[in-house]
Amino acid sequence: MEVILRGVRGSIANPSPDTAFYGGNTACVELRADSGNLLFFDAGTGLREAGETLPDSGECHIFISHGHADHIIGLWFFKPLHSPRWTTHLYLPEWLGHIPDYFYEGGIFPVPFDRLKGNVVRHQARAGEVVPVGSGPQGPRVKPFAVCHPGQGLGYKVSADNALFVYTGDHEIGGRPSARAEAEGFLQGADIAVVDAMYSREDYMPGWGHSAWEDWVEAAAKADVRNLVLTHHDPNRFDRELDALDHRLIALEKPGKMNIHVAREGMRFVPSGPIPFTRYGSDWLLLFLEELARYRDENAVLDRILAKAREITHADAGTIFLVEGGELVFAYTHNDSLFSVDNAYKYAYATVRMPVSKSSIAGYAAATGEALNIADVRSLPPGVPYSFNNSFDDSTGYRTCSMLTLPFFDSMGKVSGIVQLINSLDPRTGKPCPFTPGMEFNARLLTREVSGTIEHSRLERKSIYGILRMAAVHDPSETGPHAERVGAVAAELYQRWAEKRHPDPDKDRIRYEKNRIRLAAMLHDIGKVGISDLILKKPGKLTDGEFAVMRGHTEIGASVLAEDSSDIAGIAQNIALYHHQKWNGRGYPLVDGKTPAGEDIPLSARITAVADVFDALVSPRCYKKPWTFEEALDLLRKEAGEHFDPVLVECMEELRDMLPLIYERFPDRTEASDGQ
Ligand code: C2E
Ligand code: SIN
Ligand code: SIN
Ligand code: FE
Ligand code: FE
Repeated sequence: MEVILRGVRGSIANPSPDTAFYGGNTACVELRADSGNLLFFDAGTGLREAGETLPDSGECHIFISHGHADHIIGLWFFKPLHSPRWTTHLYLPEWLGHIPDYFYEGGIFPVPFDRLKGNVVRHQARAGEVVPVGSGPQGPRVKPFAVCHPGQGLGYKVSADNALFVYTGDHEIGGRPSARAEAEGFLQGADIAVVDAMYSREDYMPGWGHSAWEDWVEAAAKADVRNLVLTHHDPNRFDRELDALDHRLIALEKPGKMNIHVAREGMRFVPSGPIPFTRYGSDWLLLFLEELARYRDENAVLDRILAKAREITHADAGTIFLVEGGELVFAYTHNDSLFSVDNAYKYAYATVRMPVSKSSIAGYAAATGEALNIADVRSLPPGVPYSFNNSFDDSTGYRTCSMLTLPFFDSMGKVSGIVQLINSLDPRTGKPCPFTPGMEFNARLLTREVSGTIEHSRLERKSIYGILRMAAVHDPSETGPHAERVGAVAAELYQRWAEKRHPDPDKDRIRYEKNRIRLAAMLHDIGKVGISDLILKKPGKLTDGEFAVMRGHTEIGASVLAEDSSDIAGIAQNIALYHHQKWNGRGYPLVDGKTPAGEDIPLSARITAVADVFDALVSPRCYKKPWTFEEALDLLRKEAGEHFDPVLVECMEELRDMLPLIYERFPDRTEASDGQ
């Protein structure tokens, strides 16, 4: 069973910019049973739109709750009623028999109902009389029940596919003394209940035939309803107000027991819950941009953007490429089918480059600035200049089907990167299907709005590179790639540490901290700018006096960073000052007359110490040859509990597989090309 909300307004249609998100059409709910039977409940203006989605022939069943205009006006504009290849069974409450004819007789519609081209079979619906739909025992069974509404009304209860659907039509749950208990009865055990919640208790109008949503929430909780859907919105309830209601409902839900949703046109439900499962209001983009503003680091920004783009398109996988020096450079990827979140990190440092040219799908989007929405990459339209590169599929066994590729733009209007979303999964079947126009629209909104944030995060990184480049004039070995590697290893160490420390980690918090540590760790040796070249570049061993000067780079770094007012200034100062402290307390420099030990050393500095020494060991230095990874890890193991926090040495072991990828991604470069 699948339920689709086609019209969610009461009283009168109100399509307007202020109702665009939840929808302006009046009452109509579509139910598709697994048996293939197609049912509609009420025929408000939403029915017209539902009709447009139907094939050229077929059979359907429309159940009318009562004769008020907002529940029947869509009937005359329903495609099947105008097609001889369609049969429509129309179930009218017994007291409404004359209504369709009255439309012609009263001059409301120019053609008599019976002269419309479609085949219409009229039935009478009576409270308590079960209507079997379709043939055989598999078909849905619809049971009308009396509701409380001026001039009477019927609600409908549908059993199909081992699930129970309830539609109340217009119903005042507080309308007669027994109505509340009756409601708990007809809602009992409903998987999906779509109910009239035109009012809240604040604006409830007694006797008008509608209910306050709070009453439904209480009744549904008693009746073990799984999905409560509040509909028949007042035409003046604008999107902002319904968003606010939706936010309040989250707190009233019973996780795993009862979902509560504000009805939105186009929303779909299966007995287990809404499709898609993501909860979002008209302000989803605003909320996302607010969240995104917390992140500075390019990796974090790209990760969040990719996650949101996938969420709104149900994409199984996705990749972001950034334009660098005329090439598309792989920047970030997610793939739910191929690697779990735990494994994804291995790909965070993969190195892939491809030309900005029209011959690939990504290259085409980057070269032209056009979005490409491809239903199946294996049957591209004839004559397109691009082709699908299946080398990734071939090497991994993954099967790419649908693909949505969108460009990002910089403030000059030039393409700065692309996001490629792969395989939109139908939440019901889990099978890839094409990206819908609605998904493409939302994803385009998203890429437009986040382009500036991406540019900012790249600038932030570039400004850190600028500082490092100035330091590089002084000491070319300690530049971009070294800083990148120490930053990357420190960030990954932090993530492992945090996941060990907190069995149920707050992933957003970890992501946020991880990226502050990444940037701050890049600046750990910035104080070396204050050390004389004679010492810094001395080919051999330092004398005791020279080393004493050298140790000053920690305090110099901290004082340089004290001038900084950025988000990472505090943590960067800690790292600069403490990154040569040792777990056993025998490090440097003296802070307030002593050298801290153990957890008195800030975590960020303990992390950077491991990342920095590892990198110093495996890199060439003017005073030493590079060591192998194993030799360097051996030293870390030997120094666990002495120089290093033993937990962090364990974390480093866990990163063993990832280290080569980080070192491949940020190789030492020649002086001329250093620091980008
Ligand atoms: P760096 O080159 O970035 O090294 C950072 C840290 O890595 C060092 O901190 C040390 O803990 C570790 N490390 C580096 N190379 C080796 C090694 O060959 N063996 C071992 N066991 N550990 C190593 P440390 O010692 O406090 O040095 C701080 C900075 O002082 C170094 O930064 C480097 O710039 C400079 N430095 C240290 N020793 C020498 C030296 O003998 N000659 C010169 N020219 N500079 C040195
Ligand atoms: C979101 O979930 O934030 C985006 C809305 C959508 O699914 O289209
Ligand atoms: C969908 O989530 O099914 C399409 C996106 C939308 O609702 O706009
Ligand atoms: Fe240092
Ligand atoms: Fe260093």
